[in-house]
Amino acid sequence: MSSSSSAPAPVTASAPSPVPEPLRVAIVGTGNIARFHAQALLAEPGRAALVAAVDVDPGALESFRSRHTIPRGYADLDRMLTAERPDLVHVCTPPGIHRAQVEACLGAGASVLVEKPPALSLAEAEKMAAAEGGDRGPWMATVFQHRFGSGALRLRALIDSGVLGRPLLATCHTTWFRPQEYFDLPWRGKWETEGGGPTLGHGIHQTDLLLALLGEWTQVSAVVRRQARDVETEDVSLARVDFASGAIASVVTSLLSPQEESRIRIDFERATVELAHLYGYGDDDWRLTPAPGFEEEITTAWEAGEHGVNSGHHSQIVQVLDALRAGSPPPVTSRDALSSLRLVAAVYASSFEQRPVTPADLAPGSPFHERMNGGRSL
Ligand SMILES: NC(=O)c1ccc[n+]([C@@H]2O[C@H](COP(=O)([O-])OP(=O)(O)OC[C@H]3O[C@@H](n4cnc5c(N)ncnc54)[C@H](O)[C@@H]3O)[C@@H](O)[C@H]2O)c1
Repeated sequence: MSSSSSAPAPVTASAPSPVPEPLRVAIVGTGNIARFHAQALLAEPGRAALVAAVDVDPGALESFRSRHTIPRGYADLDRMLTAERPDLVHVCTPPGIHRAQVEACLGAGASVLVEKPPALSLAEAEKMAAAEGGDRGPWMATVFQHRFGSGALRLRALIDSGVLGRPLLATCHTTWFRPQEYFDLPWRGKWETEGGGPTLGHGIHQTDLLLALLGEWTQVSAVVRRQARDVETEDVSLARVDFASGAIASVVTSLLSPQEESRIRIDFERATVELAHLYGYGDDDWRLTPAPGFEEEITTAWEAGEHGVNSGHHSQIVQVLDALRAGSPPPVTSRDALSSLRLVAAVYASSFEQRPVTPADLAPGSPFHERMNGGRSL
């Protein structure tokens, strides 16, 4: 028998590591945003197989499945989790349902990519993070797609290299327009089901990118107002944010601005960097203005950095799939998402309390830890 042979095993060149199988992926919630998830997954057949979709609305589910050729459909998330045993579930339902669905997926051993905002409050988000599986997963990632375009990656690398000098001053403005009909969906515009207004639901994309670039914040002074829409929440907000680096930023969010724009501008010691776009950016949406005397050094560093990747669901989803296939926590991690939610909570807390707010003010026990509005009305 071969097992009794004392001959040494032949020495061979080490075998290439096996390429991991495509992940089995499902989508829950087949409304407006889910198509960006399906398109990205279908464009990556080597990384993912889209095996199932779930929705409580049978018409939405059937048209979504037929448009994206998804083999199986379910009206119930738990049944899907039992039958399909997916590796990853994309949660694309309204925000008030995220917590229960994310916890159900994590409990069934599936990692999750949940749409923003991941939760209605810091308390909810912390409970979701606590349901993750530790070092070996499953994990919860949140969709913050603007971190993943090459412009943001290039700027982050330049900041880390020190070539730009210290960040001094920033503006981060999300000035969009939503007519009253936009709020007809039953979950929109209400503290209970949407968690907050545009500070949480719309401006969070850019504030998340600002935090990814500038790091920890230390204090926020803000005002939120309802200026024009018939909703419970704010429709504009205005904040001053202080960062641990010493930088200060103006963060503005509006759903009342006919001239729509998403803009981030950061003045560093040695250059101004600007990004102007609407819902996603490419390389051409970035502009660099070096300070006198630094033109050559800064321009050379900027041009040598990453290029060619637009921000968007596809660029993040590729990173999520690659991280999971390598056995590591996918971006944006629960810790990073909590940091963005904490800044949003600080904007509401500062406005309702009419005073500057620090991260310590938002610890468990604070009403703004439990709910973005701290239980108050505007
Ligand atoms: N990342 C982005 O750029 C971006 C843009 C728009 C929306 N979003 C986010 O995506 C999420 C969904 O927004 P949307 O505009 O697609 O909403 P939507 O209302 O168009 O779609 C939600 C879908 O979820 C389904 N649903 C509701 N309850 C369900 C349940 N219990 N089980 C299964 N399905 C259920 C609904 O029937 C609907 O088809 C929200 O969190 C929103 O903030 C993100």
